[in-house]
Amino acid sequence: MEARSFAASRSSSQDHLYKKIGPLLPFASISEKPRMRTRGILGPCLYRRVMIWVVTSLIVVTIVFFKTQDNVYDVAVNLPGSLSHAPAAHGSAQGPSTPQQLNAQQQQQQQQQQQQQQKVQPQQQPNVVVQQQQQQGQLQGSVEAHEHIESDDERRNRLEILKRMPWLAFKHLDGYFWGLKTVVPKSHHVPEYPNRTREAPLPEPPRVMPLSVAKPYNPYNTAEKVQRCYLDVDEKIPAPDIWAYPGVPQHMPEPALGSYEIFGMKDDVCFDRFGRYGPYGLGYDKEEGGAGVGNDTEKSNSERIWSETGKIDYRNIDWGSAQDRCLEKNKDRFLKPDPKSDELKPELGKKGRIAVVIRTYTGFKWTDHAILNFRALINELSLRSGGEYQVHFLMHVRDEDIPIWADEETVQKVLDANMPKEFHGLVTLWSVPQMRLFYPGQFGDAIANPSGSDIHGVYRSAHFPLQIFAMQHPEYEHFWNWEMDMRFLGSYYELFDRIGKWADKQPRPMAWERSARYYIPEHHGTWEDFSATVRNDTLHSGRPTIFGPVRFAGKTPLRAEQTGRSMLPASCEYGKDKSKCGIGEGADIITLNPIFDVEQSGWVFWNDATGYESPPPRRCAIVTASRLSRRLLSAMHEEVFLNHHTAFSEMFPPTVALHHGLKAVFAPHPIYIDRAWQPLGSSIDAAFNGGRDHSTSGRGSPFDLANEHNHKGTSWYFNSEFAGLVWRRWLGYAQVDGRDKHGGIAGQGTLRGGRDEEESELSTGRLCLRSMLVHPIKFEDPNERK
Ligand SMILES: *[C@@H]1O[C@H](CO)[C@@H](O)[C@H](O)[C@H]1NC(C)=O
Ligand SMILES: *[C@@H]1O[C@H](CO)[C@@H](O)[C@H](O)[C@H]1NC(C)=O
Ligand SMILES: *[C@@H]1O[C@H](CO)[C@@H](O)[C@H](O)[C@H]1NC(C)=O
Repeated sequence: MEARSFAASRSSSQDHLYKKIGPLLPFASISEKPRMRTRGILGPCLYRRVMIWVVTSLIVVTIVFFKTQDNVYDVAVNLPGSLSHAPAAHGSAQGPSTPQQLNAQQQQQQQQQQQQQQKVQPQQQPNVVVQQQQQQGQLQGSVEAHEHIESDDERRNRLEILKRMPWLAFKHLDGYFWGLKTVVPKSHHVPEYPNRTREAPLPEPPRVMPLSVAKPYNPYNTAEKVQRCYLDVDEKIPAPDIWAYPGVPQHMPEPALGSYEIFGMKDDVCFDRFGRYGPYGLGYDKEEGGAGVGNDTEKSNSERIWSETGKIDYRNIDWGSAQDRCLEKNKDRFLKPDPKSDELKPELGKKGRIAVVIRTYTGFKWTDHAILNFRALINELSLRSGGEYQVHFLMHVRDEDIPIWADEETVQKVLDANMPKEFHGLVTLWSVPQMRLFYPGQFGDAIANPSGSDIHGVYRSAHFPLQIFAMQHPEYEHFWNWEMDMRFLGSYYELFDRIGKWADKQPRPMAWERSARYYIPEHHGTWEDFSATVRNDTLHSGRPTIFGPVRFAGKTPLRAEQTGRSMLPASCEYGKDKSKCGIGEGADIITLNPIFDVEQSGWVFWNDATGYESPPPRRCAIVTASRLSRRLLSAMHEEVFLNHHTAFSEMFPPTVALHHGLKAVFAPHPIYIDRAWQPLGSSIDAAFNGGRDHSTSGRGSPFDLANEHNHKGTSWYFNSEFAGLVWRRWLGYAQVDGRDKHGGIAGQGTLRGGRDEEESELSTGRLCLRSMLVHPIKFEDPNERK
């Protein structure tokens, strides 16, 4: 395929933009060609580093996550003697800078861990350990265990840690790891956790199901008239379906936080790796057009996934042009911007479109697994939906000396060096010098700037390029801000669509208060019960509830507000039923973690707000994955360029929404937890809603530096360890984890899963899990680390 010209390779939507703004500026859009790689430290890494150092200096005895060359997991006590290595032991969070560093770090960690394991193994007789090891070895394939008799000091240290992090003593759940041979219909499913009558772990379930029943999975609205979209120009390869099994592995736990039910997401099906990724090239070689990964994992009966479509040849796919062709066929279904005002013209029966903007950067290390993920995202959200979503990569060019706006060849070079060719047509480049140009002038000092970094840099102001992107793309109503190390085990469309529709239905009254809390079904009951509890807690707190724009000293109204335009919808007008206010109104911001009040929260960057006369009320949602409306991004843009107001990346969008009365919701998507927290429900509430008035806000917040460890065993948080473990096990790779007969904190990790185990007669087969979001996924095939 020959390289297309700069102009010709722009998407139609971008053409519109260029006609409009012409040479307005810098946003260098795309073209194409081959690939590149090397990993970068970006995003939250600095944040992590700050935290790591604070933690290290605060705590005399720290925690080390048991790590072999394949995985980081489970805990052992880090004894004073090895304290100086603590930061390195947290290296996975910190992010190694180079492969060399990574290797050195791994070796150091391995040595360290071996020492520690030897020290920490609690009172078990060596021969007992060996015996156990042999038994498990027969059952589970390769096993690693270590012998040690605990000293008094060690015991004291261990108890001290448990006092601070009591969840480490809870038993590990086994129920995620039973495979396809245990899949039962949901009506027969007994979750291992929570279970009021029987403590986890539950025994191995019987094998029940033949492997033959995976079916194409269709979460799309079949009533809508959508023109079918294809991967190729000749329309020979229709956008494929993913496949699911009807049922759930026996004893798979329920999500500890969040819910499927409230969103109408299916929880009676499970996805194995071939059903979810086989249509995108998992399980066959590059010579056949596949991804060249997955063929080295257990794969019995995987062939049927390709029975209808054959193995799709991905060697010459151009996703940018596939998306544009798809939109062209379906464009009449969508709202279009008014050429004069740039506003979306309301038209009956037409939908607003949604951009998915993935933040990437030069130096990102592309892997075959990462490519699979983005094929899935584009196919499921954009092509299969008939153009409702459009995927973009917003690439941060970190070398500030590259004039990315100057010419086509410069852009092409950046793409060739940093992006797989198949995605070239989706990329928009940006750089920090551009941000200085878009947002010039003096920004005042922040109340505090703990990271010490530049106001225009990506670390503190990741929203700047997104704001500009939104201003340059009037064809979208909403923008999902997405990141490279997130994965969805399930259909991306089902996730984004159901969350968006649920958010539409949320009433405005008490939305901020509900959004400040994790929803814990075992503790709160139904969503209605939860809402009632929030109402009651709020009324008893004596604090005013938030409704509409908040007032504070020195507030600057938006220009729209100055003209008297209200940010509240007609359903909230005076005299109308207040309980219906906001229902049917699209949310201006949807977050995937609670939106908390940073005041007194112990969150490190709570005071990183710039340009305000006096500290304004502020909200934050950790993990920047979120959906922002054009209206919110316009307000943020105006706050920055006109008032020189800004705040830390995770804080600015919810804070602007708060100030100007925009609709904000936290969507409590299902989050799983690795251990059986006790007592059921209340222990989770105490840790995760431990802030003011049973929320995540203020003093006691789970986002306090000292409390964030609670998230390590969850499937979704920036410091989660469980996310990577369960994801890699599901992909078919062996991982070390801390489960054994008794669970606990022994640090006696065992290598489990992987091909040999899954292929053994005794195995229950490869994993099949309900849909879930996982983050952070820093690597997939363990060989990537070598
Ligand atoms: C708890 O587990 C036991 C043992 O498997 C089971 O019989 C019981 O039905 C479970 N309870 C619930 C509420 O799922
Ligand atoms: C899987 O790998 C083997 C070699 O290990 C090869 O013979 C086979 O063709 C591969 N299968 C697929 C589907 O790529
Ligand atoms: C309401 O909240 C108060 C104070 O938190 C509590 O004592 C009371 O039991 C709650 N009532 C209900 C019905 O939940």
